[in-house]
Amino acid sequence: MKKIKKIGIITGGGDCSGLNAVINGITKSAINTYGLEVIGYRRGYFGLYHNDFQVLDLKAVSGIMHEGGTILKASNKDNLFNYPVEEDGKTVYKDMSDVAVENMKKEGVDALIVVGGDGTLTSARDFHRKGIPVIGVPKTIDNDLPATDVTFGYNTSLETITDALDKIHTTAYSHDRIMVVEVMGRNTGWLALEGGIAGSADVILLPEIPYDINRVVDKIRERDRYGKSFAIIVVSEGAKPIDGDVTVREIVADSADTIRLGGIGDIVTRQLQKLITNHEIRYTNLAYIQRGGIASQFDRMIGLRFGVEAVKLLMSGGTGQMVRYRGRNVEAVNLEEVVGSGSMGETSHGGAKYVDPNGQMVQSAKAIGISFGD
Ligand code: F6P
Repeated sequence: MKKIKKIGIITGGGDCSGLNAVINGITKSAINTYGLEVIGYRRGYFGLYHNDFQVLDLKAVSGIMHEGGTILKASNKDNLFNYPVEEDGKTVYKDMSDVAVENMKKEGVDALIVVGGDGTLTSARDFHRKGIPVIGVPKTIDNDLPATDVTFGYNTSLETITDALDKIHTTAYSHDRIMVVEVMGRNTGWLALEGGIAGSADVILLPEIPYDINRVVDKIRERDRYGKSFAIIVVSEGAKPIDGDVTVREIVADSADTIRLGGIGDIVTRQLQKLITNHEIRYTNLAYIQRGGIASQFDRMIGLRFGVEAVKLLMSGGTGQMVRYRGRNVEAVNLEEVVGSGSMGETSHGGAKYVDPNGQMVQSAKAIGISFGD
């Protein structure tokens, strides 16, 4: 394999806290330990396609570790293996990855470190298959990637959710209200589950456990009976009733994953307003505040370690791999095992790591009286 002298960083998919810690870890260790040159492509694969990048030196990454978002910007739309191009006045989708490879050659970029979730890492795997040395870094607030105990960004989101629930509790208590709080997570309920437990939710509705609204009402009545005249209900955006489907907020046609969920919290609120007459019911959607803000200590540390290990892996001849967190160590796993397999989550179907309804975490929550609407 050609000696690596220059690397390119890509931050793809939705942003989250900890991305800048990864960029910091990659850039500083690449320069200090291996004397490499580093560039960062702007807006993920969009920058790779348009050869839009910025040079990353020690000054460029100084002081960014705690900052949310990514100094390189992100995009969750650009799949270069199925990219929209104009032909005879029509939009057609084509494999344009050769343009990216040519751009890399032009700039003398020998390898990529790709930071992202399932879509971004699937393309990383495909660039590896084309012979480009690539290492992936697992990012997403949803924590739904298999093969790693945790993704960076998740912990900061959990802190935000927990803090929001603490704040919402005061109005719930003062006004004897039922407060419905919707959180992100796409098709997996990790954010709702761990954020909800830590934030003392009374009901948690997850994609993995379809709910019966009557069981939610039962929980509210039970609390009324023992003198607690308010309740906090955390609803994952992918939650669905036993006889219904997920709530789609938007279709983003030019995105690899076209469906955006959202609004189930509003539906649950309206359902409850018909069934509960002795409480006011209010709905809050935490939405994008879960993606932003200062990175938690955990996300800074794990982001930094992921970045450093990704460079180390690349320089020791690794490619087609992703760094992952296992136990308390950062180690390598093949990207083939991460994308589209779902082989190593708590339970997994169709590529994602799902919450196990019979697993320890859900059972512990049930043991302390949290209802899952089942
Ligand atoms: O995957 C991260 C995530 O924030 C999900 O939790 C959410 O469903 C989705 O991205 C929102 O995507 P967008 O930024 O395109 O609205």
